Amino acid sequence: MSFEAATSLDMSSPQAKREAYALLRAQARSLFEGERDWLANLSQFAALVFNAVPSLNWAGFYMARNAEQELVLGPFQGKVACVRIPFDRGVCGACARTLEIQRVEDVHAFPGHIACDSASQSELVLPVIAGGRLRAVFDLDSPALARFDEEDARGMAEALAVLVAASDWA
Ligand code: SME
Repeated sequence: MSFEAATSLDMSSPQAKREAYALLRAQARSLFEGERDWLANLSQFAALVFNAVPSLNWAGFYMARNAEQELVLGPFQGKVACVRIPFDRGVCGACARTLEIQRVEDVHAFPGHIACDSASQSELVLPVIAGGRLRAVFDLDSPALARFDEEDARGMAEALAVLVAASDWA
């Protein structure tokens, strides 16, 4: 496989950000070529995003487990994190419960936010749905306040769609 991941994408303007997410999707497609194992692909996706997207201190998956009552830590990049999150707790739980993207500009103002790393100031969590089922949530944390805008939410959702289409779920 010949593959070169961007070290850090330029997201300094709305136009640059749109182009950066298009590049991220292209990199994801190339990364998943010939591999459909969900565990390998989720691991690669977390590493790709963590290294390519600026101003992140954590990026990774929490898997839906125990009859969709609980999230359990999956492939991630960053500091060690909380392992189990009930659906009724935290930003990740809110995403799993509602199946809606959670974009939190200031995590300290979010009731029930779970602080795994005190450096985190803002957070973006997206549902990962495949075959009509919630498989996981994808959690991004930033040390900057209001790091994530609508364009990040859209761009990340589109990148996750590449991951879902490229993976078989056991
Ligand atoms: N902050 C998250 C917990 C996961 S960690 O940030 C990695 C939450 O409130 O759900």
